[in-house]
Amino acid sequence: MSKVMPLISANCGKIRPDSVEEYINVGGFEGLKKALKMEPTQIIDEIKNAKLLGRGGAAYPVGSKWQQLYNIEESPKYIVCNADEGEPGTFKDKLLLEKDPLRIIEGMIIAGYVFNSQDGYIYIRGEYEAIQKGFQSAIDNAVENGYLGNNILGTDYCYNLHIMTGAGAYVCGENSALLNSIEGKAGRPRVKPPHLAEVGLFGMPTLVNNVESFANISTIISIGAEKYLSYGTPESGGTKLVCLSGQVVNPGVYEVPFGVTLRDIIYDSELGGGIKDGKNLKFFHLGGQSGPCGSLSQLDTTYCYKALRANGLNVGSGAVVVMDESVCVIDYLKYVTEFFIHESCGKCTPCREGNKQLYAILDKFTKGEATSGDYILLKRISDVMAKASFCGLGQAAATAFNTCLKNFRSEFDAHLRGKCPAGVCFTKQERGE
Ligand SMILES: Cc1cc2nc3c(=O)[nH]c(=O)nc-3n(C[C@H](O)[C@H](O)[C@H](O)COP(=O)(O)O)c2cc1C
Ligand code: SF4
Repeated sequence: MSKVMPLISANCGKIRPDSVEEYINVGGFEGLKKALKMEPTQIIDEIKNAKLLGRGGAAYPVGSKWQQLYNIEESPKYIVCNADEGEPGTFKDKLLLEKDPLRIIEGMIIAGYVFNSQDGYIYIRGEYEAIQKGFQSAIDNAVENGYLGNNILGTDYCYNLHIMTGAGAYVCGENSALLNSIEGKAGRPRVKPPHLAEVGLFGMPTLVNNVESFANISTIISIGAEKYLSYGTPESGGTKLVCLSGQVVNPGVYEVPFGVTLRDIIYDSELGGGIKDGKNLKFFHLGGQSGPCGSLSQLDTTYCYKALRANGLNVGSGAVVVMDESVCVIDYLKYVTEFFIHESCGKCTPCREGNKQLYAILDKFTKGEATSGDYILLKRISDVMAKASFCGLGQAAATAFNTCLKNFRSEFDAHLRGKCPAGVCFTKQERGE
């Protein structure tokens, strides 16, 4: 049986992305038409029953988030789509933004209808310049065809969509920093509570969901929660877009049903196709730089939120970065930490200084200068970062390090003895070359 299940990516590459006509020909806007005849609470219940978990990384139940916003009486309410996609190794939202923008727009219209919102915003990462133009064209065509703007499909409902763009800061993907950025302020995270459902964009109740989360909405409404859930596992509804990269034969974006295994994702001929150049797998990094690294012994873990979590892993953004035996785990961690040093906004000390300290000690390991006392320091630093950082960036920055130390302790120990098992670290002379 095929391990690939194109549900929300079914139209990608098959239709002209901004063509309303072609979108309708493949069943587009059916979910919206059905939704406009439903009570908002019925729509929320359907999403809850589908067990859709947020696809932006935190896996918060989408139905519960919608319910919380619905329960708030204040208005206007705003709808925001997070298309910042700054997580390294993650390029799945790009596929939808580029190839099927009307699906995202449809999900955002349904959300707008549920909350009687007049305005929705999509925050597209600055580097996706061509995508922004294509998305605007899809919005314009949707307006022209009566799916956006005044009196949508002959109803009383009016709703406009606006594109906002980022300037390349990873932290702006954090939902409160993103709202600050839309408001024209510095893209730095806000203190929470108050939650964004209460005090969000322009101080008003706001829904922030990821591109892939919105892309699932019309499918859930049109095929029904029960059918949608049947594609996944009992706890993880539907499918997931995974982004395969690194030393894998077939890198790319694949839609898989929850319930396949990590081995399937990396080795199945329809998916990753195994490791490049006949080499062996060493580890895989899941969910982006802020996610955990897994080892060979975890390859048969089911790819779903519950099983991954039970094994110390995570779906996160859907990134699966594959590394072969030639990679030194500690050297790899230095690259990861460099990214966080660069992207830390500097607002809080544990993240701003912690990442630098983490890097400095990892560097000592790769230079043969580390001592066993450095393990204690590393643990202290990573604990403080996880517990005392102001936002998710700093809190999760040491996740890769922590999981690597757990899964590859012998490789760290080898460096203490002046040996790099992958033959990457130290000078050539020290490696005996
Ligand atoms: C540093 C940081 C960067 C983030 N970047 C993104 C991003 O690029 N895209 C995204 O959807 N969520 C990102 N998130 C998660 C958002 O804060 C938020 O949880 C998400 O947009 C909610 O949507 P969802 O519930 O549909 O997943 C990031 C979080 C952090 C802490
Ligand atoms: S953890 Fe602190 S320094 Fe790091 S990005 Fe968040 S607010 Fe900025």
